[in-house]
Amino acid sequence: MNNKYPYKVKSLPYQIVSLEPIIDKTTLSIHHDKIYLNYVEKLNLLIKENKCLENYTIEELIYNPYLIPPTIINKVLYYAGGIYNHELYFDNLSPTKNTQINGLFKDKILEEYKTIENYQETLFNIASSPINYHWIITTINNKNKIETIGLKDNDTSIPLNLYPLLVIDITEHAYFIKYHNHKDHYLKNLLTIINYDVINERLKKI
Ligand SMILES: [Fe+2]
Repeated sequence: MNNKYPYKVKSLPYQIVSLEPIIDKTTLSIHHDKIYLNYVEKLNLLIKENKCLENYTIEELIYNPYLIPPTIINKVLYYAGGIYNHELYFDNLSPTKNTQINGLFKDKILEEYKTIENYQETLFNIASSPINYHWIITTINNKNKIETIGLKDNDTSIPLNLYPLLVIDITEHAYFIKYHNHKDHYLKNLLTIINYDVINERLKKI
């Protein structure tokens, strides 16, 4: 995620059909090729009109909001957050089915939640919250402890000083075509195609 303006759409690290049947081709193509792409295009348009921001990466914009003129700060953070969260989400999914939590990430999860079932219960509780979160993000804090949070809109965990490890999009556009209102069913199935190698790599970089 080091690209600078003009920001480019990051290709999926797998074929658009390869998450079937968990995520259908139509949903994934709308999600990646229309919704995520739209955030990239909108941010590029904004930066084009505000050249003071053209030397920053997406992460630098989110980490340093004071750099952004007040008149456009909400829009810039919304589009940049949408790009940041979606790239993490698409990258931490795997075409391999029935993936198992493993490595250092598993150790850290067990340290915090004692069992994988407890951890997954936390994810389902966030998904079913009346707050209607758009993202579930399992993070690591600056004390090296796991924290799982729900976020709305395109907020990121960065302002909370939480480094994102596993990012799950629970916005309707991520699942509604196939799962309708059964968000819990989507989440249950999604947890079988998580790329834990990617998540363990994120942990190693901290
Ligand atoms: Fe999304």
